[in-house]
Amino acid sequence: MEFGLTGFDFNAWRSHQLTRVESALEGFIDEHSPADLGLAMRYGVLGGGKRLRALLALATSEAVGGHPAAALRAACAVEMIHAYSLIHDDMPCMDNDVLRRGKPTVHVAFGQAQALLAGDALQALAFEILAPEATDIPSSVQAKLCRLLAKASGAHGMAGGQAIDLASIGLHLGETELRRMHDLKTGALLRASVEMGAACRLGDQQTPPQLATYGAAVGLAFQVVDDILDVTADPATLGKTTGKDAAQNKPNYVALMGLTGAEKYAQNLLAQALEALDECGLPQNAALRELAVQLVQRQS
Ligand code: IPE
Ligand code: IPE
Ligand code: MG
Ligand code: MG
Ligand code: MG
Repeated sequence: MEFGLTGFDFNAWRSHQLTRVESALEGFIDEHSPADLGLAMRYGVLGGGKRLRALLALATSEAVGGHPAAALRAACAVEMIHAYSLIHDDMPCMDNDVLRRGKPTVHVAFGQAQALLAGDALQALAFEILAPEATDIPSSVQAKLCRLLAKASGAHGMAGGQAIDLASIGLHLGETELRRMHDLKTGALLRASVEMGAACRLGDQQTPPQLATYGAAVGLAFQVVDDILDVTADPATLGKTTGKDAAQNKPNYVALMGLTGAEKYAQNLLAQALEALDECGLPQNAALRELAVQLVQRQS
């Protein structure tokens, strides 16, 4: 299968979108919050991260001709939820990590209570920015964005997946159980990024159903690669501690399939994602295509 691109400058697109996202996030997260909470929030969100979820939301919205301001808000909101999930994931009661995005984790830099509250406040802010007061974003779009993000973040999404992750320490999970855990803890927010991008489309045209297949394949592939990098990457490149899953006795795709098996599976999921994307028949799908490829081929 040919994964290359012609006639679309992905790097220029990506760098333009990243500048927009960083500047919007800067503006949304006020540093002047009580007891310096805003500083911990900004530390956890700004100046790091690949912003894959934001890019997926923006690329999907562009592919369906979505409302640009709604898409930028969706992109920032999903990154806020993601950052909150990482802040909590790193805390001693969860993965007990000290390094994230090449810096000390939020609880190391600001203390556990402030890290907990920074995560809480980022979650609230994510929903606040999806429903601005003076805007031409239709309220039906605002409500849909809130609903999609809430479902992907809650007990049947990221938080539920994290609960399974912690409840599975030391257990052997089979393929079906592992897929379910990954599908929730990581897949849900990545899928939501695509769904939220699609929800920025105005009017009542239907979104191609294969976009959901693309989102699901990309979401699972992402966590399979995270599991692989935990074994193969070095902390300096990855910006976080490596070897943690084995050290903490967490089931993952490398433990289940071996390194080669997991790598083949990630490629298989990429092929599924690209096939689904082709079936969507969206004329402007080059960024979505390249994002899927980069997400599987990434080294960090
Ligand atoms: C890391 O996500 C945590 C998982 C959900 C597997 P990313 O690899 O997207 O983290 P950042 O945002 O780039 O730091
Ligand atoms: C984190 O999974 C998933 C969420 C934060 C929801 P991991 O625990 O594998 O992520 P890393 O490896 O610490 O980034
Ligand atoms: Mg974890
Ligand atoms: Mg972790
Ligand atoms: Mg991991």
